[in-house]
Amino acid sequence: MCQAAIPLRGTSAGRAVRLGGMVTFNAEQARKTDRAYNTPDMARQRLRTLELLQPRADEHVLDVGCGTGLLAQELAALVGPGGRVVGIDVSRDMLDLAEGRCSDMTQVQFVEGSATSLPDDGGGFDGVTCTQVLLYVAEVELALAEMHRVLKPGGRIVIVETDWRGLVLNSFDGTLTRKMIAAWDQAVASPNLPTRLGPLLRAQGFHAVRAEALPILSTSYVDGGWPAQMAQQFAHYARDQDAVTGDEADAWLDDLACKGADGSFFFCVNRFFFVAVRVASGNMRTGASVVPSGRQELLHPKR
Ligand SMILES: C[S@@+](CC[C@H](N)C(=O)[O-])C[C@H]1O[C@@H](n2cnc3c(N)ncnc32)[C@H](O)[C@@H]1O
Repeated sequence: MCQAAIPLRGTSAGRAVRLGGMVTFNAEQARKTDRAYNTPDMARQRLRTLELLQPRADEHVLDVGCGTGLLAQELAALVGPGGRVVGIDVSRDMLDLAEGRCSDMTQVQFVEGSATSLPDDGGGFDGVTCTQVLLYVAEVELALAEMHRVLKPGGRIVIVETDWRGLVLNSFDGTLTRKMIAAWDQAVASPNLPTRLGPLLRAQGFHAVRAEALPILSTSYVDGGWPAQMAQQFAHYARDQDAVTGDEADAWLDDLACKGADGSFFFCVNRFFFVAVRVASGNMRTGASVVPSGRQELLHPKR
């Protein structure tokens, strides 16, 4: 029976909660990110990103907040030696892992820097990707303006974000789950972006903006799997903010593992993909014919 008892409940209500931007990207976080993003769920997410971006041989692509270089490596294989992939990230520790991963690919370059000040690429990038990064950025509009600036006219963008308020989770205590998610929302600078991203992209001049969802559904709790790692992360920040007690966090995590063992684990959250293009010059007003020929599938993708 997966209903962990919570010993003596602490008085978490009314305690001070630190606001915004608590996540730090050090060596330990880089290792955790690498592990989390090396799971089958995240591989599927990358595959969908590539299907939507459709990188071609010899193209130049910028991966903003490239982390440990998993997507950059796959992008580099698709653009080939005649193309170019630039990964930018604020964390030196992430970039160290990314550089190691892509050391045999001369078309890849990693740069330390922020999403709010992007590197130029001469004539501009053909594509920009940005996966699970904007939630950590306070100035989202500036980051989107930068992505728009560094794209070629007709260049396309794929952004992936999550709204954790939409998590469907079998837990013995729904109130506790909501506290965990609320604590995570407090830990990052710009939570719950999917509901706002479409208008934000259009405001920066992006055209043909569309969104789609990819559910990440798991009915088995695998230690080290992506749902388990996310649950541990939520529990960590909730404890850190005193939103829950240590006993509550342990009980919540134990219950999920127990549900994994008895076959009643259920976890589902949507990853939201936003696809858009930079208007080709001359079409700024009407937005007509902005997608270069052969790129119509961005507007009407085959699925
Ligand atoms: C959850 S990880 C995602 C990594 C990568 N996009 C992936 O899909 O594997 C978030 C990444 O965003 C980076 N990051 C956070 N704030 C950033 C900023 N302002 N500019 C650039 N990168 C940032 C972090 O260092 C980290 O590598």
